[in-house]
Amino acid sequence: MPQLPSHHTFSSPEAASEALASEISNLVSSRAAEGRSAVLGLATGSTPIRLYAELVRLHQQGLSFSNVITFNLDEYLGIGKDHPESYWQFMHSHLFEHIDIAAENIHIPDSGISEEGLEEYCTAYEKKISEVGGIDLQVLGIGRNGHIGFNEPGATPDLPTHVTELNKVTINDAADSFGGSENVPRRAITMGVKTILGARRVVLLAFGNSKAAIVQRALTPGVTAEVPATYLQLHGNTAYFLDREAGAQLD
Ligand code: GLP
Repeated sequence: MPQLPSHHTFSSPEAASEALASEISNLVSSRAAEGRSAVLGLATGSTPIRLYAELVRLHQQGLSFSNVITFNLDEYLGIGKDHPESYWQFMHSHLFEHIDIAAENIHIPDSGISEEGLEEYCTAYEKKISEVGGIDLQVLGIGRNGHIGFNEPGATPDLPTHVTELNKVTINDAADSFGGSENVPRRAITMGVKTILGARRVVLLAFGNSKAAIVQRALTPGVTAEVPATYLQLHGNTAYFLDREAGAQLD
């Protein structure tokens, strides 16, 4: 039975990011106290930058990430990890270079995998997630077209990690950072909707006016492939953390 995700509207993106950082910090410390790992699913884009800054600040105040294992949602294909727009670069410069996570605990889909190795690579990525016991908490952003990770409109809910084609809206939204839409990669590796729904807890962050309409649509009852974020209505433990602007069209 579909269940609408809860939503929390905060006074600012900073306040929403601090609330999620605090939830992550509690998870990581309680697992450490039990001698266990915490498995985080992580997102890129402009939205989670404040979250990562807050996690770095908590680390400087003593929070250790030595028991943390991470899996990133997605990565562009064919650009290589040294490309300034690769999600590998993004994650290292915003988070991993500043905390005490072990390099072997970081998993980001590899944008340089050869064509013939792709299928096997995606299967192995998914297997690694299962082997560590699944994702405890998945952080998500949302595209203006309702995508989550790179699960674009039309995505089915049954796919694990796979190769996907980027949608026009997504390519246009990335055009500025790549110096023109012609430079934006056309394909990506992404966790599938199935992978995301397998996480025990999901928190989706959305900030600003440009996300208000899609947030309203994603939280309207009814699951449709045209708005992949509506699949989160099938999850049961998803929360949207919004700022006032992104929550402006909700009742
Ligand atoms: C990209 C990422 C998504 C992200 C989305 C929104 O397409 N693959 O994971 O949620 O952009 O980005 P932003 O947070 O910059 O709006």
